[in-house]
Amino acid sequence: MAHTSSTQSLPASSTVPRHVAIIMDGNGRWATGRFLPRVAGHGKGVEAVRAVVEACAVRGVEYLTLFAFSSENWRRPADEVSLLMRLFMVALEREVGKMHANGIRLKVVGDLSRFDDKLQQMIDNAERKTAGNTAMTVTVCANYGGRWDVMQAVQKMLAARGAAGQDAAAFSEEELAQHLAMAYAPEPDLFIRTGGEQRISNFLLWQLAYSELYFTDTYWPDFGAEELDKAIASYQQRERRFGRTSAQLLEQAS
Ligand code: IPE
Ligand code: IPE
Ligand code: MG
Repeated sequence: MAHTSSTQSLPASSTVPRHVAIIMDGNGRWATGRFLPRVAGHGKGVEAVRAVVEACAVRGVEYLTLFAFSSENWRRPADEVSLLMRLFMVALEREVGKMHANGIRLKVVGDLSRFDDKLQQMIDNAERKTAGNTAMTVTVCANYGGRWDVMQAVQKMLAARGAAGQDAAAFSEEELAQHLAMAYAPEPDLFIRTGGEQRISNFLLWQLAYSELYFTDTYWPDFGAEELDKAIASYQQRERRFGRTSAQLLEQAS
């Protein structure tokens, strides 16, 4: 089912964000600060993923989305890229069974065609195995870029319309949104970026339109349940107005 854009209708206000999206940044700096190779930071980062998945499940977060590899990360040294791919495979192999046992549905979104066949096959198997699970959806964004997502959605939308339906004026946000890679999820309520940078780095461009943004200097390998609670506490202090006034929100609530 496609979700209505939160820029058009108010999502149910809840104390725990329904959808948390995270840019897991700072692995390299975590490692170099300890005189370790950058790859050691990525290894430690996988442990943080495990902790945060568990913490989100316990707190009732329905959708957790993790930026693991951006379309720009191919620009890194080849050995770092290949290690990241290997880590991804090992993590899939190790974690999918446990996720499945905990009722977690796993999705991997991005341009997967650039990954080698074996990795693509593993992703496919993991998605199939967990497809029926309903406790929480964990989405890993791999070779993902927000601009790629919007472009592929436009292409799919035009293809679905066929030659007869190319009237540009008739396109709506809803029609395009149905074709975004994460059309199965509501837009993120809470966006978190670790590692101190305050930028979006081509993550979910369309879907972050009205998300609450939270930045922390903590490096991703040091991020865990306690840090997540700080982010959620900050989120709970925000007034989500979606263009309206505070008075209007009070009126609506009464
Ligand atoms: C995030 O950590 C992980 C990936 C991008 C794969 P970085 O590797 O970007 O760590 P820093 O930013 O160099 O510290
Ligand atoms: C963003 O981190 C991508 C992921 C966390 C996967 P980067 O570390 O690659 O971001 P920039 O390039 O510094 O903005
Ligand atoms: Mg980085």
